[in-house]
Amino acid sequence: MNYLFAVASAFLTLNSALAHAADQPPSKSGEKTAPLTQKKTTPEKSKTAPQAPSTKSLMGGVYGVFSEILPLSVSIQKFSAKENSATIERGLQKLEKISDELVAHTKDIEFDYIGSNFKQDIKDMNSAWKSGRTREAQFIFRNLSTNCISCHTREEATSDSSQPKLFTKVNQKGLSTIELAELKTAIREFSEALDLYEQALSPKEFSLQSPVLMEGYIVDYMIVALKVKSDVARVIKTLTLLGFDPSVPFSLRMNIGKWVALLKDYRAEDIKSVADTEKLISKGKTLSSFPLDSAGVVANILGAKHLQFILSHNKLSSSDQAEAYYLLGISELSINRPLQVSKANFFLEKAIRTAPDSLFAQNAYTSLESNIYYQNSGSLGVYVPSSDLKKLSELKKLIKK
Ligand code: HEC
Repeated sequence: MNYLFAVASAFLTLNSALAHAADQPPSKSGEKTAPLTQKKTTPEKSKTAPQAPSTKSLMGGVYGVFSEILPLSVSIQKFSAKENSATIERGLQKLEKISDELVAHTKDIEFDYIGSNFKQDIKDMNSAWKSGRTREAQFIFRNLSTNCISCHTREEATSDSSQPKLFTKVNQKGLSTIELAELKTAIREFSEALDLYEQALSPKEFSLQSPVLMEGYIVDYMIVALKVKSDVARVIKTLTLLGFDPSVPFSLRMNIGKWVALLKDYRAEDIKSVADTEKLISKGKTLSSFPLDSAGVVANILGAKHLQFILSHNKLSSSDQAEAYYLLGISELSINRPLQVSKANFFLEKAIRTAPDSLFAQNAYTSLESNIYYQNSGSLGVYVPSSDLKKLSELKKLIKK
């Protein structure tokens, strides 16, 4: 099967899945303590902005707009119908306002990056809408959920969404189990997402689907189970069952065996420094037989999680910071899932700017340059946009200085 086609249709099905979810706006109940780190604003910041709305309340707003517009975005007829235009207009404006506030009060750079991406997507969507490019606006709207998933799966969460059962009234007809799992991830119903993924990763499904797709779903599952839920035992159990299943293709079973071995060996408490993480990621690399081999993906998922934590909780030298960003960039390249906003180039650039004199900056530059060329090559050859060329030459000069 054509991989790009598969990727594109995965996006579309996820978004049509979201469109079924329109019935229930979140209620205001259940304010628990916020689990995620970006709330760690500094004291002086909370003094200057005491009324900044919490991420949780902003998300209530995001979800409210989503529920309203998604059903209208399923077809271009609905999206461009006169009677819907006031609702869409109001919703898009509200989203733009919320996305401004979302990035205005954060210190976590990954959150910040995805938030900015989210904000830019919303800006692009609004300007397309205003200049009558309705189809483009519709397309961007339907892809917004990759931002939701990326941001929600970037670190550990102590609890699922506090909104009581966002989806009790969802029309689930016509959605595959995987689509539902993705949808649950987008709205932070992680426990249910994991149950659904496990249901979908069954022998029967394996005999129906392409191995490439199935392997990707296992990776999406592991991102939620390992990064968000830190449930290593659960992943070992699921993978072990699959590893023994003859309907799973042999090459995938080989990788599953390597993932299980690495997970059994892994002790979260042993990983305290950037150097420890580097060891973990290198171990993943030694498992791979060729560059694009996904044998090391588990090490990269765990490595990214630890690096993110170390970067936001430890005071690091600039060289350690640069290494951490470099490793995050490399991990992102290896994980590379369509449900995730790609952060690789962002981290690699950050590594270079953080310590341009370091070896990590040079390695980061090499990876960044090759990734930019790779992203811009197609059947007609390579065409790198001038903005990217300009950035590359600026970064190269920084390193040379
Ligand atoms: C830039 C990061 C980011 C983006 C983008 C993002 N979210 Fe969130 N979202 C968060 C964080 C952080 C929380 C947890 C807030 C808390 O509990 O303090 C959250 C929480 C939620 C919740 C649970 C709220 C609750 O009351 O527990 C829902 C629902 C939600 N988001 C929906 C969405 C949807 C739908 C999208 C995409 C259209 C989205 N989010 C995009 C960061 C993000």
